[in-house]
Amino acid sequence: MRLYCSIQLILCLNLTIIIFTESAQPPFACDSSNPATKSYPFCNLTLPISTRVNDLVSRLTLDEKIPQLVNAAPAIPRLGIPAYEWWSEALHGVSNSGFGILLNGTIKSTTSFPQVILTAASFDARLWYRIGQAIGLEARAVYNQGQANGMTFWAPNINVFRDPRWGRGQETPGEDPLVGGIYAISYVRGVQGDTFEGGGLKDGHLQASACCKHFTAYDLDHWNGVGRFSFDAKVTKQDLADTYQPPFQSCIQNAQASGIMCAYNRVNGVPNCADKNLLTNIARKQWSFQGYIASDCDAVSIIYEVQNYTKTPEDAVSEVLKAGMDLNCGSYLNNHTKSAIQKKKLLESDIDRALSNLFTMRMRLGLFNGDPSSLPYGSIGPNQVCSKAHQDLALEAAKTGTVLLKNSDKLLPLKQTISSLAVIGPNANSSRTLIGNYAGPPCKSIEPLKALENYVNNTQYHKGCDSVNCTTASVSEAVEVAKKADYVVLFMGLDQTEEREDFDRVDLALPGQQQDLITAVAKAAKKPVVLVMICGGPVDISFAKSDPKIGAILWGGYPGESGGIALAEVIFGDHNPGNV
Ligand SMILES: *[C@@H]1O[C@H](CO)[C@@H](O)[C@H](O)[C@H]1NC(C)=O
Ligand SMILES: *[C@@H]1O[C@H](CO)[C@@H](O)[C@H](O)[C@H]1NC(C)=O
Ligand SMILES: *[C@@H]1O[C@H](CO)[C@@H](O)[C@H](O)[C@H]1NC(C)=O
Ligand SMILES: *[C@@H]1O[C@H](CO)[C@@H](O)[C@H](O)[C@H]1NC(C)=O
Ligand SMILES: *[C@@H]1O[C@H](CO)[C@@H](O)[C@H](O)[C@H]1NC(C)=O
Ligand SMILES: *[C@@H]1O[C@H](CO)[C@@H](O)[C@H](O)[C@H]1NC(C)=O
Ligand SMILES: *[C@@H]1O[C@H](CO)[C@@H](O)[C@H](O)[C@H]1NC(C)=O
Repeated sequence: MRLYCSIQLILCLNLTIIIFTESAQPPFACDSSNPATKSYPFCNLTLPISTRVNDLVSRLTLDEKIPQLVNAAPAIPRLGIPAYEWWSEALHGVSNSGFGILLNGTIKSTTSFPQVILTAASFDARLWYRIGQAIGLEARAVYNQGQANGMTFWAPNINVFRDPRWGRGQETPGEDPLVGGIYAISYVRGVQGDTFEGGGLKDGHLQASACCKHFTAYDLDHWNGVGRFSFDAKVTKQDLADTYQPPFQSCIQNAQASGIMCAYNRVNGVPNCADKNLLTNIARKQWSFQGYIASDCDAVSIIYEVQNYTKTPEDAVSEVLKAGMDLNCGSYLNNHTKSAIQKKKLLESDIDRALSNLFTMRMRLGLFNGDPSSLPYGSIGPNQVCSKAHQDLALEAAKTGTVLLKNSDKLLPLKQTISSLAVIGPNANSSRTLIGNYAGPPCKSIEPLKALENYVNNTQYHKGCDSVNCTTASVSEAVEVAKKADYVVLFMGLDQTEEREDFDRVDLALPGQQQDLITAVAKAAKKPVVLVMICGGPVDISFAKSDPKIGAILWGGYPGESGGIALAEVIFGDHNPGNV
């Protein structure tokens, strides 16, 4: 979901900057400081949102309408409407990896919860809901502080993690369609300001907007020469119904998500964003979806340019709008919609349909209510961001998600009185690795090494591998460090250089010489060692299961900003991973 072309990234950024500096316009639509406000029915809060939206769309010229169809929607100064940035991210915390959230003012960081695959392993829907709530609150606080140009977040990622080599599996709640659906319901209700049970949104008003992505059958990024832009998923009707659709159906019907995103890939030959059956017949009609449908970033241009699905750019634009898509992340609709209308491939009413969904969303977010300080969410202040409660929640999530895979002869927990500890491995001292991808700057970062040092003063560290790919290992040096200590903990696994967006793995083996290092250190250590796996996707460690010198194995996912503390608490018995 990133613009793959860096030139475009720069363009997009420039565009955003120009818009926000040029529009010395009222900062809020329908601001009382704008005298015209009183005469616009779209600003009349006693009218239903649908009436206000119809009024607003009817006032726009075609040239004003078209640029509203892309993520960097410009201001419409004559109507007092500010620019809006649709693209924000909040996978496991409010993030500045989209363009809508700026963490360069009073608020410089946000709570970084564990990467989703770990939080999912708690199997605790109430915890998922509380994390969603915290994210929604922090998002609104950022907006109220004047550091957000949008409140539409492109999370959660609820694709079914069908292929364990997928680089983005870490972002998802895993391979079970039922769990994926319950995760979606809990997270979305929390973010949007609904109750845990649902049905609690007053008049459809939203704290922040969540978006279930990527619709549908997306679980390949870049594997063995096949990329996500050209990938054509061949899926049977039964597999679609049993596996890929249930999380999206739950997200729409039960969570009432206000957004969905269509994926890059094709399904049985048809690009998702141009699939009317998927977007309109299934999502809107069958499942009663009420919200906006965004494309993944540049997913419209590739329909013509990569997939050769249409003969012209105008056909691509008209196919997606007629299919039911509303918003293009990218610039393709801005570039080609006018010409599509001139060539009579598209009617202005097709655009109006999309615009109605988009402006409805902005009104449901309260962004056409003038100064937001009077709104229900208007009093949420910056003290909500990185609050103790949210940071405690991040710690709780990391602890309850951590999985104890092996514990021979009750090796764990280690006694807090041990006299010396060796910590080995490339994942022991990297706070960046803990927060995975789509993270913003965390409130704090404490590496596992530092957290363990707080338990044992005499702690020696050796990285073992030069990097996580472990093409170069210093096995004998690590062995010397291990030999001298009473106990040894190894932090191994993967990081974003091994599994990430646009990068799938080819197998499930530990990278490079990691296995050799683990085995040699375990063999030399005085007692059986503790192996901590830091990774999102699964790794084959059957060798460790059968090695008697590897006494305990923990899986820690990418555990977020408090993950180092969580793992130290588990290792030293302040948290029992067998209890929830
Ligand atoms: C707003 O709409 C209501 C209902 O139609 C109407 O009674 C009222 O006069 C309108 N307010 C303004 C300022 O136009
Ligand atoms: C934050 O970044 C935005 C976009 O780059 C810029 O317009 C704004 O002036 C910056 N704010 C501060 C306080 O530096
Ligand atoms: C699209 O057409 C180009 C040029 O003919 C070709 O190289 C490419 O393989 C085609 N892509 C697909 C997905 O069929
Ligand atoms: C849209 O047009 C701009 C300006 O010509 C160009 O830089 C950009 O790459 C185009 N967008 C796409 C997705 O082709
Ligand atoms: C651990 O990482 C921190 C932060 O990068 C660094 O300052 C410190 O020296 C590292 N510790 C060791 C023992 O390498
Ligand atoms: C570690 O050292 C500090 C200061 O020297 C001391 O207060 C503390 O009790 C020691 N902790 C352990 C676990 O030995
Ligand atoms: C391993 O990682 C290092 C450091 O990031 C990098 O320089 C090297 O190219 C990588 N090696 C392979 C084979 O990927």
